[in-house]
Amino acid sequence: MQRFFIRCLSFYVFVALPILSLGQDNPALESARSTSAASISYQRDVWPIVRRHCRGCHSRTDAKGGLSMDSVADMLKGGDGGPSFTPGKADGNLLLEMISGDQPEMPKQQPALSAAKVEIIRKWILSGAKDDADLGDLTPKVVIPETYMFAPAVTSVAISPDGARIAAACRSELVLFPVEGDTPPERIPTECDLLTHVEFSPDGTRLVAVGGSPSSFGEVRFYDAKSGALIYSRRVGHDTLFRGAFSPDGTAVAVGGSDGAAHIVPFDQASAVKSFPLHSDWVFDVDWTPDGKMLVTGGRDKATKVSSVETGKLLRSVDMSAERVQTVSCTADFAFSSGLARTLSGFEFKIALSGIEVTGAGNGARPITNRAQYVRGMESQPGEVFTMATSLDRKLLAIGGAYREIRVYKTDDRTRITLIPNLPATVYSVSLNRDGTRLAAGGRDGQVLIYEIPSGTLIRSLVPVPVATTAGVTAS
Ligand code: HEC
Repeated sequence: MQRFFIRCLSFYVFVALPILSLGQDNPALESARSTSAASISYQRDVWPIVRRHCRGCHSRTDAKGGLSMDSVADMLKGGDGGPSFTPGKADGNLLLEMISGDQPEMPKQQPALSAAKVEIIRKWILSGAKDDADLGDLTPKVVIPETYMFAPAVTSVAISPDGARIAAACRSELVLFPVEGDTPPERIPTECDLLTHVEFSPDGTRLVAVGGSPSSFGEVRFYDAKSGALIYSRRVGHDTLFRGAFSPDGTAVAVGGSDGAAHIVPFDQASAVKSFPLHSDWVFDVDWTPDGKMLVTGGRDKATKVSSVETGKLLRSVDMSAERVQTVSCTADFAFSSGLARTLSGFEFKIALSGIEVTGAGNGARPITNRAQYVRGMESQPGEVFTMATSLDRKLLAIGGAYREIRVYKTDDRTRITLIPNLPATVYSVSLNRDGTRLAAGGRDGQVLIYEIPSGTLIRSLVPVPVATTAGVTAS
């Protein structure tokens, strides 16, 4: 029963959540198809289309062409080309022009809206573009309770490079606290429905929190690690972003997207986000090689890929798992990936990438090196793997998942040095400090656990947010 429940929850967090949102505009669409112009509602019929197809590039935080479509008022105000439409008028209607015709300009570089959706927008504008939104701002409201009924799962945890501080993602909030002492955790609310990744920059001065809201936006939030002050946040795409990693030089964060791309989001606000469409399905995790030159990515298409940061081009698909890949990591010499298939393998770059020269031509072209030559087998894990992390010096690799253990390996000879048994719950996230002497873990039961490595001695455990009931959980 418990196992089943754990599966359900992890499924919800990592798999179902984005799915749930995908068809969200359909009921409205169906109802709108059969309604007359007069009864088209902005809130019920138009907003779901705008939110799904336009708002990723036209919001107040990211207004392409100067146009925000967060509210009817914003649309009437318009962008660089003036008001996007005049209510009740068919002519001189910029917005309608841009979504109609043989090759509509909007949504930019994406499939055109269906005729039914264009018709809904057209009818709404012609019938006077009435604004029946409850609030001016229709971003789904995130509610963060003062006290939770039950501890929210810790979806991601990070330990600072010096091992002194912890950052944890508890659903929509980021929580910061020192490992030692009894300073109460600092709670930092976000507008993300779910945070999926938190991490300290390699120099320990910055903190990033990644997440988003389904069918609405992905978000990357940079904080000052010491004060917890938000430096800036950037919205990327239309869906919750998955996990990733800080670049070794700390100037950017690479994260996975539900659009099959790895997105490199720079710390410099003025620089553009680079998106590399590498996978045919959601990218669950991204890591950088220590020289910052290559990305290792893995995801729902079961592939583990190595690509060039400079060109964004695929260098090699190093592995094809039988099941989805949840997490990837790497060192200068190896890429590691794991997931539902429970296997853990190291892929030796030197040999794997030497095989990118091919013999033959066209359809006959084949890599010289075959997979068996560069795969370094490691022991299988007892259950689905959700999380993997290296120490900053990349000498140790920690791994955890839907089984109550955390295992730590040396990356050079891939031998196990630590096994922490009998954990209270499924582990969603592990993090190691710079030299791999401390490990933080977070999971389904909402606890953050901090251990000494290699001894595996528990230093501290706590639920970092206030909860009304701690049934089954001992907070300290
Ligand atoms: C992938 C990004 C993207 C998406 C999605 C997108 N747009 Fe745009 N839009 C742009 C950019 C960029 C511009 C600026 C002009 C240009 O580069 O073509 C723009 C400009 C516009 C303008 C002109 C603004 C002005 O005042 O000059 C309108 C109107 C517009 N978009 C409507 C829409 C609508 C309606 C949708 C959804 C159906 C949509 N866009 C989706 C990127 C996007």
